[in-house]
Amino acid sequence: MNQGTCLQDLPVDLEPERLPHHVAVIMDGNGRWAQSRGLPRIMGHRKGVETLKDLLRCCRDWGLEALTAYAFSSENWGRPLEEVNFLMTLFEKVLRQELQEIVAEDVQIRFVGNLSSLPVSLQAEIKHSMEMTRPNQGIKFTVATNYGGRQEIVHACKAIGTQIQKGLLKPEEINEGLFEKYLYTAGISHPDLLIRTSGEMRISNFLLWQMAYSEIYVTQTLWPDFNRYEFHRALCAYQKRERRFGKI
Ligand code: FPP
Repeated sequence: MNQGTCLQDLPVDLEPERLPHHVAVIMDGNGRWAQSRGLPRIMGHRKGVETLKDLLRCCRDWGLEALTAYAFSSENWGRPLEEVNFLMTLFEKVLRQELQEIVAEDVQIRFVGNLSSLPVSLQAEIKHSMEMTRPNQGIKFTVATNYGGRQEIVHACKAIGTQIQKGLLKPEEINEGLFEKYLYTAGISHPDLLIRTSGEMRISNFLLWQMAYSEIYVTQTLWPDFNRYEFHRALCAYQKRERRFGKI
C-alpha cells in the first residue's frame, strides 16, 4: 500500500459540513514526473491514472459528492501523435478494466466534451460505462475528454440558436439557468474547488462557465505524486477561505 492510500477516514481537522461538494482537478505534471525519472512521458500518464483512482476513492471515503477530472483538452490534439494515441488507448483500457469496480462502488461516471471526435471504440466504451453507471447514487465522477470551455459555450449557443430557429424558444427566455441546460455539464453542480497540480496558475480552458466562483488551489506537487495527504492539505486551505460570491 502506498502512503497515499493510508488516510481512510476524514481527517479530524476537517469540518465535514464545510467540505466542498464538488472538486475539479487539472492533472498537470505527468510528463515532468516521468522525465525527471528518466522514463518516457507516457509512464507519467500511467501513474497518473493510479493517482486519479485513489483520489476518487478518497472523495467517496470522505463524503464528497462530485469529482471532475480534466483528462484531455481540445488543445491536447496538438501533442505528438504517439502520445495522443497512447492516451486514447489508455482511457479505453482503464474504462474496460475498471468498469466492474466503478459499478460496484456506486460511482456514476459521465464524460463531457466533444466526444464524437474520439476514436469510435473509445466512444463505445464511454457510452457503455455511462449507461452501466446511470442508476448509481454514489459519487458523481465526470471526465472531461476532448473538452474545451470555449468550445462548450459555442456548442451551447448553437444548440440554443437551433431551438430559436425552430420556434421552440424565444430569445427573451434565455437566462443563466436555461443556458446551463445546454452545457455538457447540465445537471452537475458547479465545482466549489479547483485543484491544479505542478504549479501553473492557469485555468487552461477548463469549465469556464462553471468555475465563475470556484476557489482555486495550486500546488507544486506533480500529479502522479498528488496523494491523500496532498488532498488533505488542499481541503484545509479551502476551509480557511471565505466564500463571498461577490457579496460583502
Ligand atoms: C497533463 O500532464 C496530463 C494529461 C494531459 C493527461 C491526464 C490523463 C490521465 C492522468 C489519465 C486519466 C485516465 C482516465 C481514464 C480518466 P502533462 O503531460 O501536461 O505533464 P507536463 O506538464 O509535465 O508535460
